[in-house]
Amino acid sequence: MKEEPLKHLITIDREEFQKDLISWFSKEQRDLPWRNDRDPYKVWVSEIMLQQTRVDTVIPYFTRFLEKFPTIDALALADEDEVLKAWEGLGYYSRVRNLQSAVREVHEKYEGIVPDSPKEISSLKGVGPYTAGAILSIAYGKPEPAVDGNVMRVFSRILSIWLDIAKPSSRKVFEEAVRVLISKENPSYFNQALMELGALICTPTSPSCLLCPVRDHCQAFNEGLQTELPVKSKKKAARKLNMAAAVLFTEDNRVVIHKRPGTGLLANLWEFPNFEVSTTRSGRKQLGERLEEDYRVDASLKAGVITKIQHVFSHIIWDIEVYAGSVERSTLKETDLVAVTLEEMEKFAFPVSHQKIWKETNAALKTGR
Ligand code: ADE
Repeated sequence: MKEEPLKHLITIDREEFQKDLISWFSKEQRDLPWRNDRDPYKVWVSEIMLQQTRVDTVIPYFTRFLEKFPTIDALALADEDEVLKAWEGLGYYSRVRNLQSAVREVHEKYEGIVPDSPKEISSLKGVGPYTAGAILSIAYGKPEPAVDGNVMRVFSRILSIWLDIAKPSSRKVFEEAVRVLISKENPSYFNQALMELGALICTPTSPSCLLCPVRDHCQAFNEGLQTELPVKSKKKAARKLNMAAAVLFTEDNRVVIHKRPGTGLLANLWEFPNFEVSTTRSGRKQLGERLEEDYRVDASLKAGVITKIQHVFSHIIWDIEVYAGSVERSTLKETDLVAVTLEEMEKFAFPVSHQKIWKETNAALKTGR
């Protein structure tokens, strides 16, 4: 017979659990900028930023983003390049491109009011079940589950659920548990308390069970199995790509950059021209050939490699060799390459790897002089 994953759900004292969890959160919650008011737009921005990104990293981005784009209408009407610039360095840029498309839909279809029904809110671009539940509960007080990896970790322990939380099908089971346990009086605090518990107490490798407000309700603690849970299968190793990039200057000291395509990895961000290369031949040689073949530019590349940069994405690793060189500005006219002044460089959004390329190339060229 198949084991019932939610078999411990019926034995938990729901009211006591809610009370212990919510009173702990009321006392111990961190003072975070998105907790200052319940504006659904602000909750939305914060929840998108917090996906795959740590609270400490998000705080300054959140504050700056809201200064620049304080309302749905402001973000809907903003230029995408400016929005990407405000997200520069946070990573997973499709998050902000989807956010802006969705905000534009709210602006046009819902008169700038974030919808409060699960069906409408979930139809917005980039708003998955977690984000929908977070906005509905935190901003609108609706008893909807907001289950991410942290909440699954917490409940895998409390309810001793041995499902693989890396499997997409597991989330529904945890949502079912939250639907049963959530406080109807204060779903906002209930969900936020779970997030806070996952961040501060019920951490991945060494949970602080002795400080846990819901320890008495925790099946895993009771059995001493808290470090065995959650079950989480490893994703496959990232694929390595060898690349070469060129930082090219024109005779009037402009820098040559390129806008990435509108779809795929790092869509619409700016970069230094770069290509995948083979490790069996000189990177500099291949870079020169590809600049000629793909962009029809005849660049003159300096001999030595300036720096090597590694950037790890969730599924790919870039190993980039960087070369400096020069190119005649008039030869860029018919290409996708753009020559910008040093001051203009500030306005373009670059991936972190290319910010590093720029910084290290400048440092190398300065000391080389
Ligand atoms: N992680 C995800 N959402 C969060 C929130 N609202 N507060 C703190 N950490 C979070």
